[in-house]
Amino acid sequence: MIRHAFASAGARKIALHSSFLDDEKLPEPERVAVLHEIFHRNIRIKQLERLANFMAPIMGGYLPPNVLIYGPSGTGKSVTSLHFLSSLAHICEMQGIAFRYCYVDLTTPRSCFGAFNELAIALDGSVRRYRKGIALEQMQEMIVAALMNATGFLCILIDEADNVTTDADIFLTFLAKTFPKRIPVRVFYVFLTNRLEWEKNLDPRIVSVLKKQDMIFEPYDALDLLEILRLRVEKALDVSRVDEGAIRKIAAYASRETGDARKAVELLSKAVKVAEERSGRLTEEEVDIAEHSIEVDKTEELIRSLALQQRLALQGCYAGLGKHRNRISTGTAFEYYRQVCEAASVRPLTQRRFSDMVSFMDLYGLICARVMSKGRYGKTRELSSSLPVKVIEGLVSNTPIA
Ligand SMILES: Nc1ncnc2c1ncn2[C@@H]1O[C@H](COP(=O)(O)OP(=O)(O)O)[C@@H](O)[C@H]1O
Ligand SMILES: [Mg+2]
Repeated sequence: MIRHAFASAGARKIALHSSFLDDEKLPEPERVAVLHEIFHRNIRIKQLERLANFMAPIMGGYLPPNVLIYGPSGTGKSVTSLHFLSSLAHICEMQGIAFRYCYVDLTTPRSCFGAFNELAIALDGSVRRYRKGIALEQMQEMIVAALMNATGFLCILIDEADNVTTDADIFLTFLAKTFPKRIPVRVFYVFLTNRLEWEKNLDPRIVSVLKKQDMIFEPYDALDLLEILRLRVEKALDVSRVDEGAIRKIAAYASRETGDARKAVELLSKAVKVAEERSGRLTEEEVDIAEHSIEVDKTEELIRSLALQQRLALQGCYAGLGKHRNRISTGTAFEYYRQVCEAASVRPLTQRRFSDMVSFMDLYGLICARVMSKGRYGKTRELSSSLPVKVIEGLVSNTPIA
């Protein structure tokens, strides 16, 4: 049985190199190696060219400017910068120029201390975490000390630089003013951010010291995404088992939303998993199934993040909808909400507050609320379902009332 299961799973295998499908989970050095294969240079050629122009002074022994890169998420800011800097390091090595770069990952929000911590780890290449409880100044000293004997050029790539949650100014002042003066190596920065307004919230003195150049990454369109996906399919998958139509469909889905390449890649790898479980062929049908299941996952996550009263209200609404052929008034929903609260031993909010919560859920697409006129009896809102059936089943089965 085991052999048979193994053999038939093998026969349906589509992903030949699964690390190429999801580069973001890899540690930085491996990611750079993988990107060498799957990064689509032509689509970001304009940005690469500008980066090359900015950084060219290194070749003559001059310090390049600092660069600030803007762009919505999934437009390839991280991958383009990483790929560029690793190529630059390679060329410098061949030319005998002392250059290195380090990658400071702030993609998860960090306090000022946490940001220094990431910087320290990126610089001395260790995985050792600095102890909590040491002072910021001490931390800064350690960072300076780590570079006391370094020479040549150092580029620090700060990914999602806007993600320093406390005292961002202290972190940036250190980078802009203190750091370059205290170390013998000549340092410059590449900042990446999703937020256009980030710079405006900074201390203008820091901004002026940084003397930076700005660059924008615009969202990908459907054709760009198609090219990115094609390259990846070629490298990562068994091409004979992939329909061109499926790839087009993924590109269309992702570009219809926000042109986010991350979403396109996520959908591709999900669709591959679906296909491997089913027929062993990636067609449009698998893409649809994957799209739907990503949708379900996201909605479930949203529901999990609701506050207690909001979740009870949602459960009340769907308990009512199940009993009234999928259409109820807010008043009826409120009755169900009260029952749910009672069963959960929670005091219900007033109808007015409940009504506010319904508006909130409507806003987030968790329910559909339509205003209906009742003639001279005024107006009411009619609620109907807007969630995938699977999500509703999960929601209602957790509802304490029968
Ligand atoms: N030009 C590209 N070629 C290949 N893959 C890309 C390209 N741009 C983005 N991607 C994919 O999209 C994902 C997100 O890109 P990333 O650079 O991390 O976006 P962000 O702009 O949010 O930093 C990457 O992990 C990569 O898989
Ligand atoms: Mg990024």
